[in-house]
Amino acid sequence: MAKRDGFASSFGVLVAMAGSAVGLGNLWRFPYLVGTNGGAAFIIIYLAIVFILAMPIMYSEFIIGRRAQSNVYGAFRELAPGSGWGIIGAMAILCCILVVSFYSVVGGWTLDYLFKGLTFQFTSDTAALGGMFDKTVTANWRPLIFMLLFIGSAGAILLSGVKDGIEKYSKVLMPLLFVMVVIIAVRSVTLPGAGAGMDFLFKPNWSAVTANTFLDALGQAFFSLSVGFGIIFTYASYVKKDENLISMSIKTASADTLFAIIAGVAIMPAVFSFGISPGQGPGLVFVTLPYVFSQIPFGGVLAIIFFFVLYVAAVTSAISLLEVVVAYVIEEFRLSRKIAVVSTVALVVVLGVFCSLSQGVLSDVKIFGNNIFDLFDKFSANILMPLGALLVVLFAGWKMKMADFTDEITSGGLHKVNPLYLKIILFSVRYMAPLIIAVIMIRSLI
Ligand code: PHE
Repeated sequence: MAKRDGFASSFGVLVAMAGSAVGLGNLWRFPYLVGTNGGAAFIIIYLAIVFILAMPIMYSEFIIGRRAQSNVYGAFRELAPGSGWGIIGAMAILCCILVVSFYSVVGGWTLDYLFKGLTFQFTSDTAALGGMFDKTVTANWRPLIFMLLFIGSAGAILLSGVKDGIEKYSKVLMPLLFVMVVIIAVRSVTLPGAGAGMDFLFKPNWSAVTANTFLDALGQAFFSLSVGFGIIFTYASYVKKDENLISMSIKTASADTLFAIIAGVAIMPAVFSFGISPGQGPGLVFVTLPYVFSQIPFGGVLAIIFFFVLYVAAVTSAISLLEVVVAYVIEEFRLSRKIAVVSTVALVVVLGVFCSLSQGVLSDVKIFGNNIFDLFDKFSANILMPLGALLVVLFAGWKMKMADFTDEITSGGLHKVNPLYLKIILFSVRYMAPLIIAVIMIRSLI
C-alpha cells in the first residue's frame, strides 16, 4: 500500500488544528457571548469548560484517529470490526458536508465584502450598510459566484494534499491571521472611549451569570474547538506516532482561546467607541464594522485587512471540513485525491446553491419551519454534532481497550502522563462528558 500522506512537523499539526478551530466562532460569536454573559466571569467559566470538559473529548478524537490511521469511516472498521460503530463515521461525514455547504455561503459573503472594501464601497450611512448586507445575501447570482471562489480556493489547497497543502498553507495563513488580528486590536484599544468596550469584555459581572451561561459556554466550546465533527479525528490520523497528544490538544485549545480573546479586543472597544450595540450576530460583522471602519483614520485599510482575516479564518476551517470527506472518498472508494476533491467540492457547490438561494428566492421553501440554510445549520449543530461527540467518548471510554487508550495517549510510553491526571481523563471520558453532552442535546431539542 502507498504510504499515507501526513503532517511533517509539530508546528504544522498545531497550525492546521488551529486553522480549523479559529473561525467565525472566535471572531464574532465569542466576543458577543462574553459581553452578554458577565464579561470576565464568562471567560473564566469558558476556560474551565474548555480544559475540563471539551479537552477529554478532544483527546478521545485524537486517540481514536491516530490509533486507526484511517479516515473517520474506515477507522471504526479497523478498531471495532463488524460492529455498528461505523455510524459515527457516517454521521461525521454527513455533518461536515452540511456544515461546509452553508459555511461556504458565508465564506462567499466575506470575499464579497473584501471586494467591496478594495473598491471603497463602505459608507458611514448605517441604513445603506444594512441595505448593502441584505442585497449581498439575497441576490441570485452574485453570492453564488463568490461562494464558488471561496470553495474553489479551499479545494485548490486540498489538491496538494496534507503536507504540501493543508500544512504548507496553514503555516503561512495562521501566523498572518494572528498578526492582522493584533493590528486591528491595537487600533481598536487606542480609540477614544475604548475603555467601555474593554470593561464590557473583561469586568467580571457574576450577577449576569445564569444556568444558561454554562450552556452557552459549553456549546461555544464545542463549536469553536471543532470537536464532534470528525475533524480532529481525521487530522489526528495524519499525526506522527511520537507526537504528544495531550500537549498538542492543550496547545490547540489555548491558541483557539487566545484568538477569541484578541478578537474580542479587536472588535468590542471599536464598537463601544462609536456607541453601537454589540449583540447583533452576523450583522455585527457585516453591517456595524464597516460603519466603524468608515469612522476611523485608515479605516479603509483596516476594513480590507478585517475581511481578509475573516476569509482566511473561514477558508482554513472549510478545508478541515472538506478533508474529512475527501479522506473518506480516497480511502473507501480508492480514488485519486484529485477526483475526491473535485467530486466533494461539486457536491458542496450543489448544496451551497440551495443554501444561498434560500436567503432570497427560495426563502419561502420551509422544511420543519426552517429555510434550507437554517435547516442545515440546526440539524448539524443540534443533532449530528453532539450525537457524534457523545458516541466518540462512549467509544473511547467503553469500547476501546484500556491498554490501547493509554498506549495512544502516552504515545507508546514515550510521554509519561501523571496517573492522577489519567484517572481524571478517564473519568471525564466515561461519565462526565457523556452526561453533559446529553444535557446539551436535550436542552437544544426543547
Ligand atoms: N471552529 C470553527 C469556528 O470557531 C467552526 C467550525 C466548526 C469549523 C466545525 C469547522 C468545523 O468558527
